[in-house]
Amino acid sequence: MMRNWRKALILVLCAVCILGFKPRFANGETDQGDASALGLMYSALNSPQQLTGWTANNGDPCGQSWKGVTCSNKRVTKINLSNLGLSGTMGYSLLSMTSLTELDLSHNSLAGDIPYNLPPNLQRLNLEYNQFTGGVPYSISQMPSLQYLNLAHNQLQNALSDMFASLSSLSTMDLSFNSISGSLPQSFQNLTGISTMYLQNNQFSGTIDVLANLPLDKLDVSNNRFTGWVPAQLKSINLKTDGNSWSSGPAPPPPPGTPPATRNTRKHNSGSNGSTSNSGSSGGSSSSGIGGGAIAGIVISLLIVGAIVAFFLVKRRSRRSSSDIEKFDNQPLAPRASNEVQEIKSMKSSSSFDSQALDTPISISLRPPPIDRRKSFDEEEFNKKPIVVKKSVPPPTNVKSYSIADLQMATGSFSVENLLGEGSFGRVYRAQFGDGKVLAVKKIDSSALPSGMSDDFVEMVSNISQLHHTNVTELVGYCSEHGQHLLVYEFHKNGSLHDFLHIPDEYSKPLIWNSRVKIALGTARALEYLHEVCSPSVVHKNIKSANILLDAELNPHLSDSGLATSIPNADEVLNRDDAGSGYSAPEVTMSGQYSLKSDVYSFGVVMLELLTGRKPFDSTRPRLEQSLVRWATPQLHDIDALSKMVDPALEGLYPVKSLSRFADVIALCVQPEPEFRPPMSEVVEALVRLVQRANMSKRTTGTDQGASPRADNSHDGHDYM
Ligand SMILES: *[C@@H]1O[C@H](CO)[C@@H](O)[C@H](O)[C@H]1NC(C)=O
Ligand SMILES: *[C@@H]1O[C@H](CO)[C@@H](O)[C@H](O)[C@H]1NC(C)=O
Ligand SMILES: *[C@@H]1O[C@H](CO)[C@@H](O)[C@H](O)[C@H]1NC(C)=O
Repeated sequence: MMRNWRKALILVLCAVCILGFKPRFANGETDQGDASALGLMYSALNSPQQLTGWTANNGDPCGQSWKGVTCSNKRVTKINLSNLGLSGTMGYSLLSMTSLTELDLSHNSLAGDIPYNLPPNLQRLNLEYNQFTGGVPYSISQMPSLQYLNLAHNQLQNALSDMFASLSSLSTMDLSFNSISGSLPQSFQNLTGISTMYLQNNQFSGTIDVLANLPLDKLDVSNNRFTGWVPAQLKSINLKTDGNSWSSGPAPPPPPGTPPATRNTRKHNSGSNGSTSNSGSSGGSSSSGIGGGAIAGIVISLLIVGAIVAFFLVKRRSRRSSSDIEKFDNQPLAPRASNEVQEIKSMKSSSSFDSQALDTPISISLRPPPIDRRKSFDEEEFNKKPIVVKKSVPPPTNVKSYSIADLQMATGSFSVENLLGEGSFGRVYRAQFGDGKVLAVKKIDSSALPSGMSDDFVEMVSNISQLHHTNVTELVGYCSEHGQHLLVYEFHKNGSLHDFLHIPDEYSKPLIWNSRVKIALGTARALEYLHEVCSPSVVHKNIKSANILLDAELNPHLSDSGLATSIPNADEVLNRDDAGSGYSAPEVTMSGQYSLKSDVYSFGVVMLELLTGRKPFDSTRPRLEQSLVRWATPQLHDIDALSKMVDPALEGLYPVKSLSRFADVIALCVQPEPEFRPPMSEVVEALVRLVQRANMSKRTTGTDQGASPRADNSHDGHDYM
C-alpha cells in the first residue's frame, strides 16, 4: 500500500514537473541545506571510505541512503556514526540541520573544538570517547529540546559557562573524564528535568550546592576538587563523592528561609515521554495517516503535492544559503543569547540565598534591593568568579577564561563593524556580551605569537593580570584555544587619545587644556607604576597616543602594558611597526635598545602631541615640520614660539604659565641622551606641581582661562594631589 502510494506520488511529481515546475531540489530526496551540511561534514571528516554512499558534493543523503543517516520527509533526522574509526573534525556547518534530533559520533577519534553551531533541535547528542578539546560550546544553551548530552571521555577544558538555563528537558548529562575546571554554573539549578548527572574525573572546584534541589536519581562527582559539604538533600540518592576535598565537621545551618532538607521539588521530566514520541512522529504519521487513502484520493493528493512542491520551492529560497559558514557568522546567536543571559543574570542575582528560598514568600523580603543585586552580579562576574577558577591548572587566577565561541558571538565573528583598531600585536574588537557588558578583545597576530606558544601566552596572561592601576587598562580575561591567543580588556568609551586628537568626529569636542594635563598626568602615573612600583620593572616599549584610551570622564588608561615584555619577538615587531612613527627614542631607532628611558622619551612625544595637536610624524606637512620632535624642541623654551605651536583647537584658552611648565617637562623627556631623561616619578611630580599651581592661581584670581566643563576641574583638584 505504502509502496504504491509512493510510486503514485513520484508519478504525480513528475507530471507536475513536466507541467512546468522547475525542480530546484537537484539533490532528489534531500533538502538542499541538509545535503550540503552533510557534504561539508564529510569533508571535515577527511572523506572516510567507511562512510558508504557519502560524497562531498551534490550528494543525496536520503535518496542514496548514506550510511548512518536517517531521513524523514526529505529532512535528515538522525545521524549515527558511532564507532567507525572516524578522524578529523565535525565541521562548522551543522546549524542548518534543523530537523536533526539525534547525533551520535561517539567512539571515534574526532578532534578539535566541538563546533559552536550545533544542530539547534537536537534531543540526543553523544560525542563520548573522542579527542575533542576546548570548552563545552555555549551554543548548547540554544538547544532547548536536548534530553541527552554525553561528552564524556574527551579532553575538554575550561570552566562551564552559564548556559543551562533553558535546558529543562535535559534528563541525562555526562561530562565525566575530561579536564573541565571552575565551579558549577548557577544555571545548573534550572535543569529541572535532570535525573542522571556524571561529572566525575574532572577538575571542578567550589561547592555542589547548586545541585541540591535537582530531581536527581544518580549523581557522580567523584575525583574532582569540590569543597564544602554534600547537601543533605542529595544523601538519599545514588551518589558518588570520593576523591574531593570536602569540609569535615558539621555542615553550616541552611540560610534563613530554606525549607527543610527534604527534596520537595522531586519531579521527573514530564516532557520526556512527549518529546520522545515527537522525534519519530514526523515520518510515521504522514505515511500511516495517508496510507489508508484510496486511489480515488489522487485528485486530492494532486492538490496536496502541488502545495508541497510550492512549499519546498519557497522554503528552498529562504534557506538556500543557510548551509555555509558565513551565513552563521553573519547571523550570530547573539540576540537569543542575550535573552538567555539576561535570564541567567536575574536568576543569579536572586540566588544569593538559595533557589529554594524562592518558593517561600518570606524570602522575598530577605533579598537585597534591585540595584544592589545588579551590582552584586557584576562583582560576581568579574571578581568572584576568577577566584573560583583559582585551583585550575593554567596559572592566570584573577581573569576569566573565554571560549572562542563566546568571543565570536560577542564580536559578531570579529566583524569589521566591531573593529576598534589595529595595534602592533593585533586587532582590537568591540565585544558585547549577552548581559550587555562591553569589553575590548585583542586578537594577537600569529606573527607576534605563533600558535605553538600557548604556554608563553598563559604565562603572559598571568603576568599582565597582575597589573592593577587606575590608569592601566585592566585585563579581564583571555582565550587560548585552537592556537588562537586573545586578550579581553575593559572597554573605554571614548576611544584612543590618537583618535580623539587626530580623527575628530562630529560629537567630539576638542580637548580643553585641563583635560590634556589630566591625560598627561594619568599616563605618567601609569608609567611610574610600571617602571617604579612593579618589580621587576615593566618597560612598556610602545607608548603612543593610540595606546592611551579615554574613558567617559577622559581619564587615560594605558593599554598594551606588559605585552611587549612578554611577547618573545616583540622588539622585532615593534621596530618594524614604529619605524618612522615619530615615537621612538633615537637609541631605539638606531639599535633597538628599549629601556625605561626610551619609554620616557615616547611619553614626551605624547605630551608634545597633546600640546600641539600634531601627529609625531606627518608627511603632509612641510618638510621641516614633518618630525614633531625635531620641529618643536628648539622652540620649547620660547614663550612666543610656544604660543604659535600650541594646538589651534584650544583657541587660545590655556593658562600661559601652565603651558610653559608643560613644555619644560617635554624638553626633559625628549632629550636625545637617555641618561639625561628624568625617571617617571619626577615627571609625575612636575606635572602634579603644575596642576597644584594652576588650582592655586585659580583660587586667587577666580578665573581659569582653560576651564569650561564642570567635572574636569574638580577632578583635577582631587585626583592630582
Ligand atoms: C548508534 O549505533 C551504535 C552501534 O551501531 C549503537 O550502539 C547506538 O546505540 C546507536 N546510537 C543511537 C543514538 O541510536
Ligand atoms: C532558573 O532558575 C531560577 C531559580 O530557580 C529562576 O529564577 C529562573 O527564572 C530560571 N530561569 C529559567 C530560564 O528558567
Ligand atoms: C511515559 O510512558 C510510559 C510508557 O508509555 C508510562 O508508563 C509513563 O507513565 C509515562 N510517563 C510520563 C511522565 O508520562
